Amino acid sequence: MKNLSIELCTPEFWNDYELLDCGNFEKLERFGSFIFRRPEPQAVWDKAWTEQEWQKQAHARFEGDSPTTGKWIKYKPVPDRWEIRYHSKLLDFKMRLATTAFKHVGLFPEQATNWEFIADSIKKIKGEEPKVLNLFAYTGGASIAARNAGAFTTHVDSIKQVVTWANENAELNNFDKIRWMVEDAVKFVKREIRRGNTYHGIILDPPAYGHGPKGEKWKLEDHILEMMKDVTQLLDPKQHFLVLNTYSLGFSSLIVKNLLDQTMHKDAKKMIGEVVLQAKSGVILPLGVVGRVSKNL
Ligand SMILES: C[S@@+](CC[C@H](N)C(=O)[O-])C[C@H]1O[C@@H](n2cnc3c(N)ncnc32)[C@H](O)[C@@H]1O
Repeated sequence: MKNLSIELCTPEFWNDYELLDCGNFEKLERFGSFIFRRPEPQAVWDKAWTEQEWQKQAHARFEGDSPTTGKWIKYKPVPDRWEIRYHSKLLDFKMRLATTAFKHVGLFPEQATNWEFIADSIKKIKGEEPKVLNLFAYTGGASIAARNAGAFTTHVDSIKQVVTWANENAELNNFDKIRWMVEDAVKFVKREIRRGNTYHGIILDPPAYGHGPKGEKWKLEDHILEMMKDVTQLLDPKQHFLVLNTYSLGFSSLIVKNLLDQTMHKDAKKMIGEVVLQAKSGVILPLGVVGRVSKNL
């Protein structure tokens, strides 16, 4: 077999976020001053800390009725909304968080490892204003990072409320030059090909299952190959980067590798990694697979 390495990719610069412990299908995390217990399907092992320790620390716990719906049980006061800051050598921005009915708080903190790659790549684009497309963009962590690093950014998500939330995150940082699109990512990409538009950077963080605004079905394994073939046509042929992040139980890193090998430019550099967070308790939590591509950067 040819040399093949899979890297561990983890954020290095968080102060306002910390994974404290995980196990027994839960994780204990600090977002700013607030500590939450949330479901974590990948944490099939035992917690490192005791139940008493978890209970003592948690401000609130999300109790699921199904994998995505449930309710927050509050043990200590938690505001409806609060802010956290991400600060590194390349980036400095704030994000607004809230406890939502779907166990999320409006941020995937492990994505900070991708934000650093995005910012570093944008800074290397020569001769033109960098243009970045963020697909399946949620509350805009990667869009805000791309704008913070100097790119004109197009943010695409199918849910109006999350695009509004992303817009509020941009306003919180006084960032302009972000184009907000409530659209089906698949249709948006095909339309951009017809218009002849190109981008220096494309970011994709597709879910396992999703829907466009008109109910268009997205299923990762059914639609990702065509999506990757389409986005190659939108990449600036001279200099570009791409991030494909996937979070789906059982989605092997080799699936991402094979997809990128088949669809990306032959002379582009590629890296395949597992996105992970290391808890304060020591255990390492896997949170998906990432493929990163760059050409002439
Ligand atoms: C896993 S989240 C992305 C997380 C985000 N990149 C981040 O790090 O904050 C997936 C997003 O894809 C959106 N989505 C699902 N199906 C879609 C579709 N067909 N077109 C556009 N967006 C879609 C969802 O609304 C959701 O916000």
